[in-house]
Order: sequence, then structure tokens, then C-alpha cells
Amino acid sequence: MKTIYQFFITSVLACAASSSAILPREAGFEHVYDSNLDAWKRATNQAPKGYAPQAVDCPSTRPSIRVASGLSDQETKWLEKRRSNTIAPMRDLLTRLNITGFDAGRYVDDNRDNTTALPNIGIAFSGGGYRAMTNGAGNLAAFDSRTPNSTNTGQIGGLLQSATYIAGLSGGGWLVGSIYVNNFTTVQNIIDKNSDGSVWQLGNSILEGPKTGGIQALSTVQYYGNLYDTVISKQDAGFNFNVSLTDYWGRALSFQLINASEGGPGYTWSSIQDDADFKDGNAPMPIIVADERNPGEAIISLNSTVFEFNPFEMGSFDPTLYGFAPLRYLGSNFTGGELPDEDKCIGGFDSAGFIMGTSSSLFNIAISQLDSFKGVPQLVKDALKGVLVNIGRDNNDIADYKPNPFYHFNNRSNPSAQAERLTLVDGGLDLQNIPLNPLIQPPRNMDVIFAVDSSSDTLKADGSYSAWPNGTALVATYERSTNASIQNGTAFPAIPDQNTFVNLGLNNRPTFFGCDASNLTGPAPLIVYLPNSPYVYNSNTSTNQMDYNNTERNAMIQNGYLVATMGNGTRDVQWPTCVGCAILSRSLNRTNTAVPDVCRQCFDRYCWNGTVASSTPPPYEPTPVFTLLKVKSGVGRFVPNVLGFALVAAVSGFLAL
Ligand SMILES: *[C@@H]1O[C@H](CO)[C@@H](O)[C@H](O)[C@H]1NC(C)=O
Ligand SMILES: *[C@@H]1O[C@H](CO)[C@@H](O)[C@H](O)[C@H]1NC(C)=O
Ligand SMILES: *[C@@H]1O[C@H](CO)[C@@H](O)[C@H](O)[C@H]1NC(C)=O
Ligand SMILES: *[C@@H]1O[C@H](CO)[C@@H](O)[C@H](O)[C@H]1NC(C)=O
Ligand SMILES: *[C@@H]1O[C@H](CO)[C@@H](O)[C@H](O)[C@H]1NC(C)=O
Ligand SMILES: *[C@@H]1O[C@H](CO)[C@@H](O)[C@H](O)[C@H]1NC(C)=O
Ligand SMILES: *[C@@H]1O[C@H](CO)[C@@H](O)[C@H](O)[C@H]1NC(C)=O
Ligand SMILES: *[C@@H]1O[C@H](CO)[C@@H](O)[C@H](O)[C@H]1NC(C)=O
Ligand SMILES: *[C@@H]1O[C@H](CO)[C@@H](O)[C@H](O)[C@H]1NC(C)=O
Ligand SMILES: *[C@@H]1O[C@H](CO)[C@@H](O)[C@H](O)[C@H]1NC(C)=O
Ligand SMILES: *[C@@H]1O[C@H](CO)[C@@H](O)[C@H](O)[C@H]1NC(C)=O
Ligand SMILES: *[C@@H]1O[C@H](CO)[C@@H](O)[C@H](O)[C@H]1NC(C)=O
Repeated sequence: MKTIYQFFITSVLACAASSSAILPREAGFEHVYDSNLDAWKRATNQAPKGYAPQAVDCPSTRPSIRVASGLSDQETKWLEKRRSNTIAPMRDLLTRLNITGFDAGRYVDDNRDNTTALPNIGIAFSGGGYRAMTNGAGNLAAFDSRTPNSTNTGQIGGLLQSATYIAGLSGGGWLVGSIYVNNFTTVQNIIDKNSDGSVWQLGNSILEGPKTGGIQALSTVQYYGNLYDTVISKQDAGFNFNVSLTDYWGRALSFQLINASEGGPGYTWSSIQDDADFKDGNAPMPIIVADERNPGEAIISLNSTVFEFNPFEMGSFDPTLYGFAPLRYLGSNFTGGELPDEDKCIGGFDSAGFIMGTSSSLFNIAISQLDSFKGVPQLVKDALKGVLVNIGRDNNDIADYKPNPFYHFNNRSNPSAQAERLTLVDGGLDLQNIPLNPLIQPPRNMDVIFAVDSSSDTLKADGSYSAWPNGTALVATYERSTNASIQNGTAFPAIPDQNTFVNLGLNNRPTFFGCDASNLTGPAPLIVYLPNSPYVYNSNTSTNQMDYNNTERNAMIQNGYLVATMGNGTRDVQWPTCVGCAILSRSLNRTNTAVPDVCRQCFDRYCWNGTVASSTPPPYEPTPVFTLLKVKSGVGRFVPNVLGFALVAAVSGFLAL
């Protein structure tokens, strides 16, 4: 128990070091098994030997680390295709959104030969465990024109098809990751499979493994045996790789998120670049975010380096690292940015599960507590103890990237330049719980970002979490953008304090930030903030909740759908129009086009206008918009106690400081 205590104290200190103190706002996980194996796959089984990275032939140009002074050539080429493929869906969407007095079709047609004039859209899904994955899924379903009826009046389907980038972090990374790894399937498709599906069966504990009965039925012993064998195969691959709890966690997650035999141990994130649809620019680029933990430091502060994993590369635009490694050859011995001639190229290190696990490494805590859990083979318990001894218990949440691809790279400012391993942690630990960092990089030219926030921020009178967001994630990204030593050319709209969010209800309905392009510190996108709020379900479930049966899961998703559509337009019939106006705002400025009246009305209603109301609000207790669905949820079994204890310990620890 001491471990967890220390771990959470670490996070609390991290929070205290930045602005307001919070606890981790994310949570745990689950799984079940499969039928219909290998039916969908976008990421593929490209690793040379399952989970164990292996030597592979080097490409004719030896892979190297590049300086982050712009986008990679691969991304630049891909963008040309993607931007032009967004034109038709965007035209369709904007004409459907009923922007009275504005001929959206003609506007798009007039500018179609010059895509840089047209809107460039990003979408970001916050962390927050299952809550974030399911609430995010509802929002995603609303954005996706493939969802039945999502293109009817009052709906906003087609936003996904019009977007260029889609980023996820921790629980939001599970959402983005599992959609892409499963052949860019739809949320609806996953739900329709119901209990016959293999992914998102959140009713069984991820710690117990797949339910018996599927065609791949495994007992808990076999399940752990499988996790153990695959992880050890990496350790024993012969190239001195380290394994960390994140390897076990990522493998366990994969059983829930990847629809393939044994959770697809050989599925790599870089394989997405070879998928025909992604390659042709038919889907947005998925990005997963993690933070760096500097050698010898326990604290993740706002100036920690933010890493991204896109299908081509991993690395950071931050001035600390300012470099990118080719994802496909992660695990190779790069030194000073080069791969020495005598060194082989390694393939298969970038397991999709490992990357999703890295972004959500906070949940390693579940894996570290298996001692008390029935059915876990002694061999596995011993292996986990070994891992903890090797890396030190204080570091049980890291993902160990050894060899460090950035070894001796950018020696002056790279905190890990002298370290043989790179240690990454949960992307939400720096309080930037919405993965905006990759999307506000100037070379990506985002005009508008739909920021889905499922954070657990708000507190009850007794100090426990009521688990609604209150803008903390945006505040963090704004603060970072004002810190000259770390922001490195990124700009972000002004964001008020959290009390203002609650007092003005900015966390209860969609809010736009940065509407006035002349009041920014540099080119910055307009932010459409979509906070989790109750429509038909109290979707402020605890980060600790590890069990969601399918009715509850679906209620969360349905509620998320209504968050994005404001109750199918019930709360405001003009909401879909306002979405269109937000999409167009920067583009209208660029093309010197008058803002339609109906958009001015929208901006009056949805743009934060600079008002601040910073007095301490009473506890936030939102009233659901509609009659609640009748769903009772099972209470989590194992992990809730562990996390629950940790949270209590951490809070008392913090208050004692
Ligand atoms: C992947 O999805 C596409 C549709 O986007 C479909 O045409 C293709 O058959 C799917 N691939 C597999 C292996 O199911
Ligand atoms: C379109 O918006 C106008 C108000 O600008 C409204 O009067 C009209 O009913 C809307 N049409 C539809 C189909 O929603
Ligand atoms: C779509 O809308 C139609 C008509 O409003 C309705 O009958 C049908 O049930 C809806 N389908 C879904 C999946 O919501
Ligand atoms: C909103 O629209 C969706 C999709 O058509 C439908 O499934 C859902 O029942 C509607 N909900 C409400 C509250 O109108
Ligand atoms: C990288 O270096 C480590 C030790 O320095 C060595 O064990 C490993 O085999 C090397 N990897 C490759 C692919 O050569
Ligand atoms: C980052 O923040 C930590 C804690 O606030 C501080 O000690 C450190 O000096 C900062 N580093 C940089 C590069 O600003
Ligand atoms: C970003 O950081 C890098 C590395 O420190 C520096 O070379 C570059 O000039 C910075 N860019 C901006 C726009 O500040
Ligand atoms: C906002 O959330 C933070 C945690 O992220 C919490 O410490 C703070 O008390 C909250 N404030 C309000 C007004 O909800
Ligand atoms: C358009 O954007 C620029 C900044 O990119 C700003 O200076 C200008 O004032 C904007 N125009 C309007 C009408 O908002
Ligand atoms: C494309 O549009 C942008 C913004 O309107 C404009 O600045 C640029 O000159 C245009 N390029 C061409 C080739 O027309
Ligand atoms: C305009 O910019 C100032 C200075 O950054 C900021 O304080 C203010 O809140 C901004 N107003 C809006 C509406 O964003
Ligand atoms: C979901 O869980 C609740 C409470 O445990 C239960 O009442 C309900 O019947 C369950 N639904 C399903 C489909 O298992």
C-alpha cells in the first residue's frame, strides 16, 4: 500500500507545483474475448515476431532522428491528400448546418483550388479512464457521418470526415487507438456487436482477463500466462530491452481494445501508415500523447516535455527535446541522432498496445497490486516484483523506452540526452488532460479544435470528486503557452480560471475560446470546448470505476452523443449552425469574407467574452437536461478499492502539507 501512497503523493506534488492541486483524473480498465477474429484491422500485425522486437533490414536511407523544425516529409505529403479529401465532406457538412444567409457550397467551391483557405479541423479527446473513453465515444459517434441518423437535422455528423487530425490521451487514447487499430471502425459498429463483440466489453475486469465462453476462452491463469510470455519475449529478444509495468498493462489493455487473436501482440502503431485508407488520406491522422519524466525526477510539471506518437514518428516539438524518431525503427540504437553503421535496425518495438499503455500509464497501479489477486500465477507475481525492484517502486508508472532514441541528441536542452532509457508517463499527469499540444503546433495550422473534456475536476462539499470537468485542462495549456521557456512558438486563446468556468456555466455547455483572431498572442485555433455534462445519464462516473456493463457503457455513449449535439439541438436549435460558424471562423478571416449574421449571433452566445467571475462557487451539481435513462451499474471489484485508498491517502497527504 505504501507504493500507491507514494505514487499518488508524487502526482499531488506535481499538481501543487503547477497551479491548482488536483489528483489524477483518469481511471482503470477491462476486457473480454472475441469472435470474428481479424475481421477488421487497420493497424496490422506487422511486427516481425509478435511482441518481441527483432532486427529487420534497414531501409536504403538509414533511419535517423530529425530536428523538429517542421513536419516530417511523410506527414507533409500525406497532408496534401488529406486536405483535399476533406473538401467534399466539409462542403456536405457546412451546407447541411443551415448557416442562413451564407452559401456554404459556393464558398467551398470558390476556394477548392486553394485548400489553405479552407478550414483545417482537429479533434481532441481527454483522458479520464473508461469515463473518458465512453463519453468520448459518444462525441465521436456524433461527429461521424457513418453513425445512423447523424446527418439528420440537429446533428453534426461529418465533422470526423472533415477533420485533419484526431488526438487522444490516456482513456481518450484508448478510444482513438481502438478505432484505428480496428480498421477505423465506428462506435456504432462496436456497440452493435454488443456482447458478441470482442472490444469494449467493459463488464469484465481487465485484471481477470477474458470471460470464458468466447472462442478464445482463457482462464485467468492462461491470460496472465499469455501476458507474461509476450512481455518476457521482449525482454529476452537479445537486444537488452527493458520491460516495465507498462508492458504488462499495455498487453492487458490490448485484449480489450484490439480485435485480434490474443489482443494482437504484433500490431504496431506505425503499421497505420501502410493502411490503404489512411495512406490515401481518407481518414484523419491519429495522434497519442504522453509526458516525459526526467531522469531522477518524480514530478511531472507543466514544463515536462510532451511527446506525441503519430503513425510516422514519435517525439516532441517542445524546445527541450525538439526532435522526432521514425516510429517504425524505435528500439534501434540511435546515438547523437544517427544509427551507427554497425548497428542493426529494430522493428516491432512500437506495439500499439504499448503506446496506448504508455499514454495511460497511471493505471499501471492496478497491475502493480496483483499480489492480492486470486488466480494470478506465482511466476507472474514474481516477474512483476522483479520489475518493481529493477526500476524502483517510485517509478512504477513509467514506460521504459530503452534504448533511448534521443541518446546524445540535442545535448544542451534534452533532459534525457545522457540517459540510456527514455521514461514516459501518462499524458494527463502535467494537468494538460486534453491532448492539445500536437494540435497547436504552428506547422499544423489548425483553425479549430473540438476539445472533448471528460476530466474529473469538480469536488463535492466533502472534498471528494464529483468528477465533472471545470476547465483545468484548458487552463494548463493556456498557462504553458504563456511560459516563454517552454511554449516554443505555440499560442493558445486566453482561458479564465476554473471558478469562472463553474460560475458562468462554461463547463455545463459548449463554449468557444479565442473567437477574436485579433486578440491572440500568435496564430491560434478557435477552441470548441465540449465538457462532459448530464443529458440522459449522470456521466460523472468515478475514475475508479472498473466495471461498466453494456447497458451502462451504452448510456455513457448516448449521453456523450447528446453532449456534442446539445441534446440533438433540443437545448438550442441553432447549435449545429454554430458548429458550422466555429469551423468557418478563421477561414472567413483569411478569405476576407463577411461573417454571416447568424454566426455573429452564435458567437455572442458561445464565445467566452472575457468576463471573469472568480469567487469560489458552491459545489457544482448540474441538473440533467432530459429524463435519466434507468441504468444501474455494477460496482468495481478489485481496483476501486486500491485506487480509492490511494486517493484518500493522497488527499490526506496533500492536506497535511
Ligand atoms: C476495412 O474497412 C474498409 C472500409 O473502410 C473495408 O472496405 C475493408 O474491407 C475493411 N478491411 C477489413 C480487413 O475488414
Ligand atoms: C435554419 O435556420 C433558420 C434561422 O436562421 C430557421 O428559421 C430555420 O427553421 C432553420 N431551418 C432548419 C431546416 O432547421
Ligand atoms: C433514425 O431515425 C428514424 C426516423 O427518425 C428512426 O425511426 C430510427 O430509429 C433512427 N435510427 C437510429 C439508429 O437512431
Ligand atoms: C438523438 O438523436 C440520436 C440519433 O438520431 C437518437 O439515437 C437519440 O435517441 C436522440 N436522443 C434524444 C434525446 O433526442
Ligand atoms: C544496442 O546496444 C545494446 C547495448 O549497448 C546492445 O545490447 C544491443 O544489442 C544493441 N542493439 C542492436 C540492435 O544492435
Ligand atoms: C520546470 O519546472 C520545475 C518545477 O516547477 C522547475 O524546477 C524547473 O526549473 C523548470 N524547468 C524549466 C526548464 O523551466
Ligand atoms: C523552438 O525550440 C528550438 C530548440 O530550442 C529552437 O531552435 C527554435 O528556434 C524554437 N522555435 C521558436 C519558434 O521559438
Ligand atoms: C477545479 O478542478 C480542480 C482539479 O482539477 C480542483 O482542484 C478545483 O477545486 C476545481 N474548482 C472548481 C471550482 O471546481
Ligand atoms: C483576422 O486575423 C488576424 C490575425 O491572423 C487579425 O489580426 C485580424 O484582426 C482578423 N480580422 C478580423 C476581422 O477579425
Ligand atoms: C490561398 O488562400 C490564402 C488565404 O486566403 C491566400 O493567402 C493565398 O494567397 C491563396 N493562394 C493562392 C495560390 O491563391
Ligand atoms: C484578450 O486578450 C487578453 C490578453 O491576452 C486577455 O486577457 C483577454 O481575456 C482576451 N479576451 C478574450 C475574450 O479572449
Ligand atoms: C447492468 O448492471 C446493473 C447493476 O448491476 C444491472 O441492474 C443491470 O441488469 C445490468 N445490465 C446488464 C445488461 O447486464
